[in-house]
Amino acid sequence: MQEIKFYKGENIPLELHKVRVVQKLHLVPIERRLEALQEGGYNTFRLNTKDVFLDMLTDSGTNAMSDNQVAAMMQADDAYAGSQSFYRLLKAVQDVLGKQYYLPVHQGRAAENIISNAYVKNGSIIPMNYHFTTAMAHITQYGGKIAELLYDEAYKVDSSHPFKGNMNLEKLEEIIQIHGAKNIPFIRMEASTNLIGGQPFSVQNLRDVRAIADKYKIRLVLDASLIGENAYLVKEREEEFKDASLGDIMKSMTGLADLVYFSARKLSSSRGGGICTDSDEIYHELEALVPLFEGFLTYGGMSVREMEAMAVGLYETLDETIICQSPNYIKYLVNALDAKGIPVIKPAGVLGVHLDAMQICAHIPQKQYPAGSLAAALFLISGIRGMERGSISNQRDEYGNETYADMELLRLAIPRRVFTLSQIKYVEDRVNWLYDNRELIGGLRFVYEPPVLRFFMGGLEPVNDWPQRLMAKFKEDFGESL
Ligand code: F0G
Repeated sequence: MQEIKFYKGENIPLELHKVRVVQKLHLVPIERRLEALQEGGYNTFRLNTKDVFLDMLTDSGTNAMSDNQVAAMMQADDAYAGSQSFYRLLKAVQDVLGKQYYLPVHQGRAAENIISNAYVKNGSIIPMNYHFTTAMAHITQYGGKIAELLYDEAYKVDSSHPFKGNMNLEKLEEIIQIHGAKNIPFIRMEASTNLIGGQPFSVQNLRDVRAIADKYKIRLVLDASLIGENAYLVKEREEEFKDASLGDIMKSMTGLADLVYFSARKLSSSRGGGICTDSDEIYHELEALVPLFEGFLTYGGMSVREMEAMAVGLYETLDETIICQSPNYIKYLVNALDAKGIPVIKPAGVLGVHLDAMQICAHIPQKQYPAGSLAAALFLISGIRGMERGSISNQRDEYGNETYADMELLRLAIPRRVFTLSQIKYVEDRVNWLYDNRELIGGLRFVYEPPVLRFFMGGLEPVNDWPQRLMAKFKEDFGESL
């Protein structure tokens, strides 16, 4: 990647795009933000964006599209079957991901549903580097269990390990020995492992996993939702690939997997998703499930316009100047917060910046959800909406007991090419203020807890009047400022 240096040595990310369509944002007063939290059960998923200033909930379906993507949407071919838009998308999947067969689905979790439906049975064990919420929910829904096999380093907040998403190979062998290959329908590897802070795996690690999968004749499934950014970090951090193109790195990864699935809400900055493979057998095992759950095989629940945007977006994933934008902003914000002593996941990964609520809210017990509390507090004092990635995002075990998360994170997503650097500086400023006033943040408890994926629609309340006290301190320090 060509570096652009500043004359006086300032180290800031320079945008290699210009903004041509904009959306007005609203920063509402703190009193309204408190009401919005109360109305939304202190759950940032339940906020209305009219109350949100910087929406850092997710990078899923919230990325800026390019002019070429928007233009492509205009030439979509509306047809239930055999749409030309599908064939353009198929070609893009083949060119970029290097797999011949492509099954379209409406988003990533639909692929997880189909894969789990086809392969997971009661008693199945799915080894993975780490779970993603929806992947785990589908696997357990079909009677399976997951085994998370990261190295210990992955759980360290303050680390310089370049590949915290690597699968622990010794543990993988061990789990296969214990449960037997026949109970393991597939091994799942997730690119840029989301829930531990967007941390990549190395191509070498994937090769080693492949060797073990071959030894025991187990399928290897790759969740490629964040593969572009994983490839970018491989180029930066894995010596062998420093001169390789992103396209070649991505194909080195997809080429090692029997089955690749992805959410196009991340990969390709569009919406939709897919499953791809080179195996006739896998294709035929899954094919019938697409019309059953999604739609006909040439649209899979997606609109043809989105398919056109996805095809262009996939090709744009090969462009380093496009892929580097979000990781470079993340690196900038991680470095800035770290310099102030604020605990964030290091090294900087992809998708967003992850604040360590376990340390920031060390005074809040895990049963009062420190990461959820931090998410609510940050929204209150700034209008910045992040996402809890801790125990609220976990599911209860089969006996109904809480399973506390390994890490309590507040994720501040940086969708691709959406924010400006001054907005990122605002995030830095408000997180800094909140950190200095962290003792005022209190815990939360559930008042409404849905049985599946509770974090989406669950409702909580503060354990005491801490939000009012935090608001009072904000007004003391900022006066009438929003
Ligand atoms: N796999 C990974 C690694 C993901 O990050 C996601 C979604 C999915 C699968 C499911 O895809 O949303 O299209 O159904 N991640 C979003 C997030 C929701 O905010 O991190 P989906």
